[in-house]
Amino acid sequence: MSKVTVVGAGNVGATTANVLVTTQVADEVVLIDIKEGVSEGKAMDIMQTANILGLQSRLTGVTNDYAMTENSDVVVITSGVPRKPGMTREELIGVNAGIVKSVTDNVLKHSPNAIIICVANPMDTMTYLIHKISGLPKNRIIGMGGALDSARFKYFLSIALQANATEVEGIVIGGHGDTTMIPLTRYAAYRGVPASEYLPAEQLAKVAADTMVGGATLTKLLGTSAWYAPGAASAQMVAAVLHDQKKLISCSALLDGEYGESDLCIGVPCIIGRNGIEKIVEFDLNDEEKALFHKSAEAVHKTNEALKAAL
Ligand code: 2OP
Repeated sequence: MSKVTVVGAGNVGATTANVLVTTQVADEVVLIDIKEGVSEGKAMDIMQTANILGLQSRLTGVTNDYAMTENSDVVVITSGVPRKPGMTREELIGVNAGIVKSVTDNVLKHSPNAIIICVANPMDTMTYLIHKISGLPKNRIIGMGGALDSARFKYFLSIALQANATEVEGIVIGGHGDTTMIPLTRYAAYRGVPASEYLPAEQLAKVAADTMVGGATLTKLLGTSAWYAPGAASAQMVAAVLHDQKKLISCSALLDGEYGESDLCIGVPCIIGRNGIEKIVEFDLNDEEKALFHKSAEAVHKTNEALKAAL
């Protein structure tokens, strides 16, 4: 029997839980939030689709009772405040660092063997924070950012190519920030053919630019941060772990020399399986991509410095 806890019953957390039960990724899902009644209400609403959709998984909503999360195989941390229009993800650090710290302590008390997926923003820094406070082996803490950014990249690519989104390839590495993410246009492809053979350089550059501000665009339209794609991307990562899928997903991983960087969490291609990050795959980046990656790492290091002040 597999069990997943989703911490935070806001839009992203509730969507993650919804995707997890509707796609039957986990047998049992617990949705937990500090706000009285919210997780119970959302879980009940989702489970009232059970007969309509033929759901076989069980979802339970609980208010702040971590005993109910006991022995989870995977814990997704979505707690914290989302950004408002005009805000960067980095501006959330002061509030979210405290929340993520106490959530991590509570989660590990009841599920000491869980794989943790961090979604809270600024995501790379929150993932790094979880490493620092938990001391867990680095394979067990995975940041969700690259999966989402890559999904957005493939969406914009599919529009530009007028193609089915499931038939395009694209990966985004680097930080999960408007100016730090790196859509690798050189690796973008349509059915194995480089996208550059179909799209002029300016159009490919626009696809990359739209991807980078993909989250900000939605925040402006919605008045708050997005949730459908973030929730689906989180559930995709849970599935890769629970079902030992060995999928190559861009994730925020603690680097120890890979890509020439150390002591930070940042988006890199990872093989995700039952042990979490089973391998970091090192693409043969060209000089321009390498320079972008180091610049991105510098920015993430800077946010990590601000973390120390925020704690
Ligand atoms: C986003 O990009 C939530 O940071 C997330 O929408």
